[in-house]
Amino acid sequence: VTGDGWVLTGIAELTTADDDLVVDGPAALVCGPDGTVEWVGPERALPAQAGAARFDVGGRAVIPGFVDSHTHLVFAGQRAAEWQARMAGRPYAAGGIRTTVDATRSASEADLLAGARLLAAEARRSGTTTMEVKSGYGLEVAAEARLLAVAQEVSDETTFLGAHVVPAEMAGRVDDYVDLVCGAMLEACAPRARWIDVFCERGAFDADQSRRVLEAGRAAGLGLRLHGNQLGPGPGVALGVELGAASVDHCTHLSGADIDALAGGRHTVATLLPAAEFCTRSPYPDARRLLDAGVKVALASDCNPGSSYTTSMPFVIALAVREMAMTIPEAVRAATAGGADALQRGDIGRLIPGRRADLVVLEAPTAAWLGYRPGVALVRTVVRAGAVVAGSWP
Ligand code: NIG
Ligand code: FE
Repeated sequence: VTGDGWVLTGIAELTTADDDLVVDGPAALVCGPDGTVEWVGPERALPAQAGAARFDVGGRAVIPGFVDSHTHLVFAGQRAAEWQARMAGRPYAAGGIRTTVDATRSASEADLLAGARLLAAEARRSGTTTMEVKSGYGLEVAAEARLLAVAQEVSDETTFLGAHVVPAEMAGRVDDYVDLVCGAMLEACAPRARWIDVFCERGAFDADQSRRVLEAGRAAGLGLRLHGNQLGPGPGVALGVELGAASVDHCTHLSGADIDALAGGRHTVATLLPAAEFCTRSPYPDARRLLDAGVKVALASDCNPGSSYTTSMPFVIALAVREMAMTIPEAVRAATAGGADALQRGDIGRLIPGRRADLVVLEAPTAAWLGYRPGVALVRTVVRAGAVVAGSWP
């Protein structure tokens, strides 16, 4: 990358993720010296003065970098045995979170950081250029603050999820734990977080408790997100929309009223996490019903050691198309622009002038190959803010 910016040419298909704008090839993209997109369009209309260096991608497809708006990246240990038991028929339950809490509390900060960096690098290699990172495996004041300090090392999009489950030592004292989350824990964590999240689900926190957590977070200056309607119907989605949350996540078990609320809200994004349904062998959310109702949809990995141990957004896209009847343009848009919307980021997620030049060159002529060639490493080059961060220019 030169100080003068650069031009990509020979793009067989350029998905901008701005509405449904796909530029058929040969297309070109100009990145300015500040690492933002200056121009996109057909190669024959390329402005003559544009850019210094030129890279021909040789008939490959280009899409925006993935915006993974939901991960639990900071933890210790693993739960492969729990996953195997599930594959043998045991259902998924929120209680498994406590296994990871034990391992995480006894890990060193250096080990937690090393683990998070490894996963962040893995995600980058599969095309993720922005990822949200939650706490939630500490569940005591110092432990949650420590997880957020680690999260800040790998991302600017950090989320305080003290209200993940009630820790074992406070079992049965949910309201006392909510007091702690809204009091000393929030005070210690808010300076290190942009967002607050709560797991509103049977076995975790009910509507009143979730409301208290989110309102306390808002008073502390945090934006709102919520896990809801994952394991069964419940009040989470309605509560998130009512409070104007940026995103309600999972959205697997929705009532007609939930869909109406999301469609009427216009502001709250429904974030779908089909890798969690895959890894827990659960029914997938009804993406078509959401999209057809006009709800804004995002796709994210939910990377965590219990319910979805993957960082791969290409895998998530393949699932969304195969299992949830999303089209490829819908799925790519949800995994890029949708994630940016869920994080309320106007500077990333779309390949249009003024946005950060975060993009992926695929080892494929069209984005459809992300579903057509499932499980294959199709990410060739990853660019973030105009600089190559994984792979190399063709
Ligand atoms: O998003 N839903 C709550 N949290 C995670 C699961 C975490 C775990 O099982 O460790 C999720 O699926
Ligand atoms: Fe999650």
